[in-house]
Amino acid sequence: MKFTLREYKPGDFGTLYEIDQACYPADIAYSKRDLRAYLRFSGAECVVAEASDALAGFCISANQNGRGYIVTIDVLEQFRRTGMGSALLREVERRLAANGVREVRLETATDNDSAVAFWQKHGYRSLGIRKDYYPGRDAFAMSKTILSPAENPEKLG
Ligand SMILES: CC(C)(COP(=O)(O)OP(=O)(O)OC[C@H]1O[C@@H](n2cnc3c(N)ncnc32)[C@H](O)[C@@H]1OP(=O)(O)O)[C@@H](O)C(=O)NCCC(=O)NCCS
Repeated sequence: MKFTLREYKPGDFGTLYEIDQACYPADIAYSKRDLRAYLRFSGAECVVAEASDALAGFCISANQNGRGYIVTIDVLEQFRRTGMGSALLREVERRLAANGVREVRLETATDNDSAVAFWQKHGYRSLGIRKDYYPGRDAFAMSKTILSPAENPEKLG
């Protein structure tokens, strides 16, 4: 599967909204208003993945006074298990690390097995359960320590 990553542009908004609606149950997916607010959040960044010139996934992160936060990561079902989510996450973590972030946090529904497996694969560990974080659903609060670009062996040589 060939895809490319790039920065979000305002013209992507409608497609991002449709992808988010397709990726989450109706009571968890963002309203347009919430999605717009997250994209405008102080320290927010959004990286999108394009396959065959169409958006197929995206990840929104925020740098909140030096602590990183993953707001959401969404990959359309037909593009999953191709490494797209991992590529988006690596790029978002790279950007956060380059801006001095050393810890990244997120919440994910405890019954979202694929997401929990994805986060664990990428080194995120549970800090505990947040009861009713989503309507009628608990979430794991998860965290990962990331390396500065100078400490990251992938960047050496
Ligand atoms: C979570 C999500 C972003 C993963 O995207 P993806 O493009 O499929 O991820 P990748 O292909 O990079 O997968 C990387 C690894 O994560 C794990 N993983 C991903 N999906 C999995 C699944 N359904 N079951 C088990 N492990 C899974 C695997 O270890 C996988 O590596 P492998 O394919 O070599 O076994 C995608 O499933 C998604 O958009 N889900 C709906 C939205 C969501 O739940 N977002 C996260 C909650 S915040």
